[in-house]
Amino acid sequence: MHSIYTEKLTLRPYTMNDSEVAHSYISDYENTRFLLFTVENEDETRAFIKKTIEDYANDPQINYHYAIELSKAKKMIGGWVLHKDYWGQGLGTHIVQTLIKFGFSELNLRRIYATCDTGNIGSCRIMEKNGMRREGHFIRNRLCYGEWRDEFQYAILKDEWEKSKRLLQGYAQRDR
Ligand SMILES: CC(C)(COP(=O)(O)OP(=O)(O)OC[C@H]1O[C@@H](n2cnc3c(N)ncnc32)[C@H](O)[C@@H]1OP(=O)(O)O)[C@@H](O)C(=O)NCCC(=O)NCCS
Repeated sequence: MHSIYTEKLTLRPYTMNDSEVAHSYISDYENTRFLLFTVENEDETRAFIKKTIEDYANDPQINYHYAIELSKAKKMIGGWVLHKDYWGQGLGTHIVQTLIKFGFSELNLRRIYATCDTGNIGSCRIMEKNGMRREGHFIRNRLCYGEWRDEFQYAILKDEWEKSKRLLQGYAQRDR
């Protein structure tokens, strides 16, 4: 699996060396309170990363689960969960923007969707800021820490993404 580089962040495949850092945030309730997946101990974190790495080799590849690294510092800060020390700096928004671009321009996807807990305001905002539309509200659809919770589904189509890119380019030219 290829890495994706941007000035701020690098999205790269996990290695087993990521286990310790990954465990530091995956084992923190503040980070996982809206998630469907939790771990009990470091062995489970290692097993999760091992499975993720094995899945990269599948043909066709379905799992593009990236580790996120600060490009300049080369420091791993998260994946599907950002270490809370790095919240509130626009990084979540940047990751979703990068993944949408990868999905449409490299994987040639037609539609990208994602789900989140209806109480996960940060997750809702990063999808909205990336032009994703809230298309569904599923009642008591996800089991999170033993509680059936509501879920939103957001989506964006490739032609919508291309149109928003053209609009942004238009604004940039107009403002020159
Ligand atoms: C959800 C998460 C990825 C957001 O990442 P982030 O880098 O902090 O998000 P950004 O800095 O790009 O913020 C995007 C927007 O969300 C808002 N936001 C982020 N976290 C928020 C929170 N807890 N409450 C309210 N608003 C929040 C920001 O203010 C910003 O909105 P604005 O530009 O209108 O001010 C991060 O909080 C996280 O890793 N949470 C734990 C794991 C998780 O829930 N992952 C998603 C599973 S669906």
